[in-house]
Amino acid sequence: MSIQRTAVIGSGLMGAGIAEVLAKSGLDVIVREINEEASAAGRARIEKSLNRAVEKGKLDESAREAALSRLSFTTDIADLSDRQLVIEAASENEEIKKTIFAELDEVVTDPEAILASNTSSMPIVRFARATARPERVLGVHFFNPAPVQPLVEIVSSVLTADEVRTTATSFVTDVLGKNPIQAEDRPGFIVNALLIPYLCSAIRMLESGFATKEDIDAGMVGGCAHPMGPIKLADLVGLDTCLYAAQSMYDETDDPATKPPVLLSRMVDAGLLGVKSGRGFYEY
Ligand code: 3HC
Repeated sequence: MSIQRTAVIGSGLMGAGIAEVLAKSGLDVIVREINEEASAAGRARIEKSLNRAVEKGKLDESAREAALSRLSFTTDIADLSDRQLVIEAASENEEIKKTIFAELDEVVTDPEAILASNTSSMPIVRFARATARPERVLGVHFFNPAPVQPLVEIVSSVLTADEVRTTATSFVTDVLGKNPIQAEDRPGFIVNALLIPYLCSAIRMLESGFATKEDIDAGMVGGCAHPMGPIKLADLVGLDTCLYAAQSMYDETDDPATKPPVLLSRMVDAGLLGVKSGRGFYEY
């Protein structure tokens, strides 16, 4: 099937980035948000990133305008009835996501439609089971910042139809121009199974007074050629997202490497969520 009509649920850090990627790829995109204020914030986030792309010479003015013209916002999930692909990028809360998938199952009329989740670590099969079409549900996991990072994880649950996986994979490659990898529906998939223990270790290192955040970050940038160190990266990902991902992986695996450090929990309790809130371990 040729996917033209798409939707994204949520326009936070990831949802806005994904909606921008879809619109820049020539697709019609409806973004569903919970209220007008959140819609306005999501639109501003997308406009800011498109402007940055123009400034960086990655996009010309007319392509920016065209992308914006393909984007619309709604607070009514029923407006998604004719969509062929929906990517859920709501906050990392299993109950909220399950409710969204159940609602999508009610409203999306095309039996061929693909219902995807951008969750960073939660079991895809639980969202699939919230619908009456579990074979049409899979994970399509982007990386932050989505307009810049080339990788997308395609996550098949044990119930995902092979045809859905291959359609999503070709779409990501041919339409979005990104590089897909295939992951199993296991805690953290491929990337976060490696990344979350690393970020938690770095936060534990800071928490124990072993080294300063600046030196931890400088160590991985200068010593291992990472584009940014782990403390800054945790701020970029969002400390709430790091916490929820670590917690959901720990709940399933009991792996102490994924146990959220107390400092991470306290930062989230304090509303210090990283780049998106203006302050995390660093100020922005
Ligand atoms: N649109 C399009 N392109 C843009 C852009 C935008 N809005 N903003 C920047 N770019 C381009 C720039 O033009 C530049 O391209 P070039 O290399 O071809 O010149 C490139 O992106 C880098 O941009 P900048 O030079 O402005 O910025 P930096 O060099 O400071 O890089 C960064 C910023 C891309 C965030 C880089 O530091 C980086 O890659 N950091 C690591 C990010 C990472 O690891 N992300 C994964 C997080 S894990 C995740 O998301 C999963 C979740 O489930 C937890």
